[in-house]
Amino acid sequence: MAPGLTETVTQTTDDVTNGVSKLKLSSEQKPAATTEDKGPSYPFYYPYFDKEEKFPPTELFEHTDVGLRADPKKPHLLAEGVKVKNFSPYIGTELRGVQISQLTKEGLDELALFTAERKLVVFRDQDFKDIGPDRQIEIARHFGPIQRHPTSGNVKGYPEFHVVYRDANHNRFKEYLGGDRANHTSWHSDVSYEKQPPSTTLFFILDQPELGGDTIFASQVEAYNRLSPEFKKRLEGLRAVHSAVPQAEFSRKRDGPVRREPVETEHPIVRQHPVTGEKALYINQGFTKHVVGFKVEESEYLLKFLFDHISKGADFQVRAPYEPGTVVVWDNRVTVHSATPDYANDVRRHAVRLTPQAEVPIPA
Ligand SMILES: [Fe+2]
Repeated sequence: MAPGLTETVTQTTDDVTNGVSKLKLSSEQKPAATTEDKGPSYPFYYPYFDKEEKFPPTELFEHTDVGLRADPKKPHLLAEGVKVKNFSPYIGTELRGVQISQLTKEGLDELALFTAERKLVVFRDQDFKDIGPDRQIEIARHFGPIQRHPTSGNVKGYPEFHVVYRDANHNRFKEYLGGDRANHTSWHSDVSYEKQPPSTTLFFILDQPELGGDTIFASQVEAYNRLSPEFKKRLEGLRAVHSAVPQAEFSRKRDGPVRREPVETEHPIVRQHPVTGEKALYINQGFTKHVVGFKVEESEYLLKFLFDHISKGADFQVRAPYEPGTVVVWDNRVTVHSATPDYANDVRRHAVRLTPQAEVPIPA
């Protein structure tokens, strides 16, 4: 097996687990609190697995991006007094002084547009984690119907939440990756196997290490822009298969849920953003398996080049560090990201994702 292929399989496994591998998959289990450890700060969001939970196949739906109707000046989002700090010219902005929970419909439209433009927005000092599940879901649903993850931990009664969890007793890295991987970087775009993959995605932190545990992001627009005109010409029109099968197989193997039968979907390798018009690479190591119409070696060769190009592009990548109250919002259509599990094994990290789905990818 080519090195590229081995890597792809391993990284899919990493994404599959999303920090909850080896959690007991019983529905009611909660971690025991000890004298030193009081347990998760937000036990309501402890990952829940019910093997009997089943979802029907995802139906196609009409989607119009709310960013299209946003005021380009963004008066509701970037009001007076909001502090704006860009991380890099290509991707990433930190905002202080605006509460997502207080944004009007117009403000949320502007958030979608701003996120499309900046790819990643880090909101500080948010009350979002305390506004309750119904309001959290209502806000995320402004951007599109929320994906219900087929295999990962969710919240009992709230399958819209995708839970990322790790503590001293639940360490995916030791269990799965420790022996074979020299680093744990695992670039991916969330659930790209969906026919209508996600767009404006919210991720809020509940417990985080004092140091480390950042998420790294890369701009797939800039990754595309760096290619030569001749190479771009070759990519446009090509399609690749994104597969949910390894994720489902992995979950079955560990006696976890498979709430929906896994899908394999062809997407354009270069897609166009419906609001900004920007072209972006739309392939990722986590889920993209094969270039349609290419022989095996040709496909491996091309994907390996593109995966390497993206992962080596430190000049179009940034880190999003977490503080208590941070909510990170990114546009999954034009970015890839990876966890950085660089903190001690006994440290708790607990976060929740809401993943609105968007249009069928528009070929560039
Ligand atoms: Fe992710």
